[in-house]
Amino acid sequence: MVDTVLRSCAYVPKGGVGKTTSTAHIAVSAANDHGLDVLLIDLAGTQNDLATQFGLADDVVDPDAPISAIFGENWDFIRENIDNVFDRMVFETDEGPDLIPADSGLGAEDNNLANVPREDRYTRLESFIESEVAPRYDLVLLDLPGKEDNITINGLFAAENVVAPLRPGEFERKQLENLQTELESIRADEDHDARPQLQLVFATMVDQTTNLADEFTDSLEEEYSEIAGTSVSESANIGNEQASGQTLFALDDDELYNTGQRARDAYRQLTTDLLERLEAR
Ligand SMILES: Nc1ncnc2c1ncn2[C@@H]1O[C@H](COP(=O)(O)OP(=O)(O)O)[C@@H](O)[C@H]1O
Ligand SMILES: [Mg+2]
Repeated sequence: MVDTVLRSCAYVPKGGVGKTTSTAHIAVSAANDHGLDVLLIDLAGTQNDLATQFGLADDVVDPDAPISAIFGENWDFIRENIDNVFDRMVFETDEGPDLIPADSGLGAEDNNLANVPREDRYTRLESFIESEVAPRYDLVLLDLPGKEDNITINGLFAAENVVAPLRPGEFERKQLENLQTELESIRADEDHDARPQLQLVFATMVDQTTNLADEFTDSLEEEYSEIAGTSVSESANIGNEQASGQTLFALDDDELYNTGQRARDAYRQLTTDLLERLEAR
């Protein structure tokens, strides 16, 4: 029997839109509300990274088995010769999902991939997920860099299902159009069979007190009715909890502002929607 794993990635070619936050919250809801074994892989690794989100920042400095190694020429050798190399990559969070953190080698591996023949350049993560992740997990979520580089394309190939959080504004709409164009060109390339699809788009950091946000949300729903999801409120709880290494799901209702409760409920709904789409594919 072939092992299968549901896959998705958060990608918008822009930083600060809520990719990392959304990836973390969707992962926790998938683990706790849907009972799935969930693995997060951080390939973005900026400052607000997934390790920080789960209070693991100090544990993942200089990891024993860095994820960047899977993109390198020696990976097959490493995999065959180092005991339990996969287990050594993985950290447990306190909230359900497991995490493979980003590491400082990713930038160099992105550069090295430029010298790898095209037919082999974009499929390394996919092979890793097939051989190591699929036998162990039900769902893998990738947090990708906010730019199109070789690591990102590996992520789009491996996950094929794309989640795009957006902050309300015209510029973000433009980014979404660019993203659609980018995914189309990957799908059109006959040298490979990756078919990444936008599966879920939603507004984040929505200030409920202004009409602007409503207008943005309405127009997303009009233009992308098939894939538009509920919007996530702006809430001070999000940043505060990240700073102490947890998601909104770690708190009880009475510890959250209204905005925090709404944001958490939105992430629950988005997770249900996403899982439905992944399962239908
Ligand atoms: N719903 C929200 N309300 C308030 N702040 C948020 C919300 N979502 C994200 N943030 C904050 O916005 C910043 C960018 O979010 P992040 O998830 O790191 O974006 P990205 O991964 O796209 O760069 C972070 O400081 C995060 O705490
Ligand atoms: Mg990020």
